[in-house]
Amino acid sequence: MRVVLFTGKGGVGKTTLAAATAALLARSGRKTLVVSTDPAHSLGDALEAALGSEPVEIPVEGGGGLFAAHVDTRALLDRSWGRLQGHLRTLLAGAGVDELVADELTVLPGVEELLALGEVRRVAETGPWEVVVVDCGPTAETLRLLGLPEALSGYLERLFPAHRRAVRGLLAGLSGAGRDAQPAWDRTVDALDALAEQLGGLRAMLADHTRTSIRVVLTPERVVAAETRRTLTALALHGLRVDGLVANRVLPTAPPSLRGPAGRWLRERHAEQQTVLSELAALPSPLRTADHAAAEPTGVPALLEIARSLYGDADPVAAAGAPAEPLLQVRRTAGTGTSIESEFELVLHLPGAADGPLDLARVGDELAVTAGGTRRIVALPSVLCRCTVTGARLRGDDLCVAFAPDPALWLR
Ligand SMILES: Nc1ncnc2c1ncn2[C@@H]1O[C@H](COP(=O)(O)OP(=O)(O)OP(=O)(O)O)[C@@H](O)[C@H]1O
Ligand SMILES: [Mg+2]
Repeated sequence: MRVVLFTGKGGVGKTTLAAATAALLARSGRKTLVVSTDPAHSLGDALEAALGSEPVEIPVEGGGGLFAAHVDTRALLDRSWGRLQGHLRTLLAGAGVDELVADELTVLPGVEELLALGEVRRVAETGPWEVVVVDCGPTAETLRLLGLPEALSGYLERLFPAHRRAVRGLLAGLSGAGRDAQPAWDRTVDALDALAEQLGGLRAMLADHTRTSIRVVLTPERVVAAETRRTLTALALHGLRVDGLVANRVLPTAPPSLRGPAGRWLRERHAEQQTVLSELAALPSPLRTADHAAAEPTGVPALLEIARSLYGDADPVAAAGAPAEPLLQVRRTAGTGTSIESEFELVLHLPGAADGPLDLARVGDELAVTAGGTRRIVALPSVLCRCTVTGARLRGDDLCVAFAPDPALWLR
């Protein structure tokens, strides 16, 4: 199963192009699901169909089934998260934590978006789909969302380490709660395990370059090239594969017979768009264009027309990516690796990082890397946790961070 995510700035045409891509795939006979995580539910408008949280079939003339759904985050929040939150609250209260504080403690950041993504994974993995097309929210939110599984599992691990969860009874003992609290703790541990499993699964799905890729939609207006470059760096920082840029609403060339103000306007706009397109073509991701339709492209026939302008005769999901190059590699640069004179280098492959501000901070056993306007918290491999950072530099697209053993920690 292939998963293609569409993202981009507000209003550029993410929903329309995700729906158009899915319609064309269905038309070519592939079992396709298009799903939206946008609470505004505009996917239904684009397809001219009423959608719900379970996939419904939309007829595509001459094609196999096109199925569509939108994720209802509110309902999810109440259903699955509410249960776990309830458990946690009771337990914290039982451990003597003030009720108000317990409430605060059980609000995890970004949990709503996370549930949406988890739901996408659920419908994606339980159906017979060959391709799942996801209409994501705007870029900034998508980036935050895509970083969440990793950030949250770190958070979860720190609060309730897996090795402690594994020892039944230990958490209840630590909390000071009596024997009666045991079944409640067990249920919480089960719920936490389920959440951890969910996060792990999501990360695996997103990081699997042979399966998952992202398409960035934009409109060819000035300044968009620089911004797109930042987006590409930010996505790379999260280890995600961008398989293409899509410039939407591209105007046709004005025919010579078109004179007067309308002709002038079209010629000027067209020339301006072409300049931006040539800048975009220089970026490292392949660029496709979709025509500016005269009428709003809604309904399957109009969407198919847009899709044809976008893909021509090419397969909309042809290029399956190479297996992911590890984003993060550790090399030994001196010593034996066990001796105190050893030196190590952590290498992060970050295309485009040299073009903008780059920031690096060591926080305990983690490294916070900021590039392309986004931040990622990288858990350090255990050998590096016992080292101090001695320097950092860019080598081409690689950010290299040098480490040397910390004498206070190394021999322990
Ligand atoms: N190629 C196109 N030609 C003409 N109109 C288009 C084209 N692409 C999108 N539109 C129209 O532009 C509007 C915005 O498109 P769409 O809803 O797909 O954008 P979006 O990026 O999903 O927006 P949002 O950020 O609000 O989710 C819609 O009315 C849509 O019909
Ligand atoms: Mg949309």
